[in-house]
Amino acid sequence: MLEHDVAPPQRLCASAELEERGRAVSFDVIQWREHVRAFALRFDGRAVAYLNRCAHVPTEMDWQEGEFLDRDKRYIMCSIHGAVYDPLSGQCVMGPCNRGRLTRIELTERDGEVYWHPTRDTKPAFQD
Ligand code: FES
Repeated sequence: MLEHDVAPPQRLCASAELEERGRAVSFDVIQWREHVRAFALRFDGRAVAYLNRCAHVPTEMDWQEGEFLDRDKRYIMCSIHGAVYDPLSGQCVMGPCNRGRLTRIELTERDGEVYWHPTRDTKPAFQD
């Protein structure tokens, strides 16, 4: 595959693995030649995914592996300084992330499977 080609959708997990407001499924992507962790979770029935990188300081956010939601399971909350994000948009709603937002990764679901969609900037880990 040529460097500028975009890879096809990548299978991430079975739809059933993403339980409503449950533990996230983590995966690796390459962004600008660097390995970056990403995560997918289900919120209000929708599967969403973001890079695991806070908009405040570019560090991983989970409290424990796969645990991103606050105690009430209403928001994604960074474990480092408490930045709060809307789970469906990735937009910062409170805390030190200001007007930042999480970097979204497009997901689709088909036949009980979840796929993530690589872009020119965000590639499958095997492609680099
Ligand atoms: S690193 Fe996430 S709130 Fe500071």
